[in-house]
Amino acid sequence: MMSNGDGAAAKATNAAKSGAQAAKVAANFVPSKEDYQKVYNTIAEIMDDAGDYDDGSYGPVLLRLAWHSSGTYDAETKTGGSNFATMRFEPESLHGANNGLDVARNLMQKVKEQYPWISYGDLWTLAGVAAIQEMAGPVIPWRAGRVDGVAEQATPDGRLPDASQGGSHLRAIFGRMGFNDQEIVALSGAHALGRCHTDRSGFEGPWTFSPITLTNDYYKLLFDEKWVWRSWNGPKQLQDKKSRSLMMLPTDYVLTQDKSFKKHAKAYAEDQDLFFKDFSAVVVRLFELGVPSKQWVSEEPWTMKRVEEQSSN
Ligand code: HEM
Repeated sequence: MMSNGDGAAAKATNAAKSGAQAAKVAANFVPSKEDYQKVYNTIAEIMDDAGDYDDGSYGPVLLRLAWHSSGTYDAETKTGGSNFATMRFEPESLHGANNGLDVARNLMQKVKEQYPWISYGDLWTLAGVAAIQEMAGPVIPWRAGRVDGVAEQATPDGRLPDASQGGSHLRAIFGRMGFNDQEIVALSGAHALGRCHTDRSGFEGPWTFSPITLTNDYYKLLFDEKWVWRSWNGPKQLQDKKSRSLMMLPTDYVLTQDKSFKKHAKAYAEDQDLFFKDFSAVVVRLFELGVPSKQWVSEEPWTMKRVEEQSSN
């Protein structure tokens, strides 16, 4: 808890720096939690207004944007992470792992124009929060404070995971961010959502039958279905023997093959509440990677309300 007036003043200055993007907005405007809730609501509206796009929601691709902007963090050099939103710049925007994320960035640009005071890092991570909460996932406590960076802060290629690899690669990539086995497994459960696109990653198909609702089905399916290598003219991926309509990446399948990963994946398959609890905790950390704590505008994270919770009052 901040106890002195200087601390409060510093927080207010941070709020102004992060939120204000000073040159662009009227003097003295310090956004409040309610202002961020308005941004959340606008994101939620856009997410649902997806027409024929994929499975009818932009939620999954927005979550992927939030993750790829955070997952570049390197704990040793303290570079990368969600602070500077450097995926706006080349060459990071052109890294193979970020293929297709222009869709999400362009959607969020419309929101940025409506609320010019929000930083891109705050906007993208708030979109990740909205995606998870609006797709029936757990509450993701969130706070504001990221600032816009410059092209020179863009991260080198190769910091995000390569789906064609195995357990040691996952441990190296996520270990660099500061995550352990249990956290790697919990984060992977995001693949209950969305799908792979041949024109983005080369892989194809959804992981679950309900790709716009977060559940623990990803883990259940990993254990309950028989997975076989798909024979096709594309990168190595697995398909379920029964329906042949679902997929797993080599990095997903390894959660059933590695003893330590398997223990956690089994636990999440058996207990959705446990998955939601651990997923929320690890996503909060993911989205805060690379943000110096003095930048946060509030000591305590905020809980943004789901759209349905607001309409009832
Ligand atoms: C474990 C390492 C991971 C690998 C190798 C990986 C790889 C991939 C690949 C290849 C795609 C398909 C992209 C496309 O073709 O559109 C994808 C999609 C996705 N990933 Fe991951 N991912 C990983 C971890 C994560 C994490 C930690 C999250 C979030 C917490 C996440 C969230 C998503 C989402 C929501 C999609 C669907 C996007 C859409 O439907 O457009 N992934 N991932």
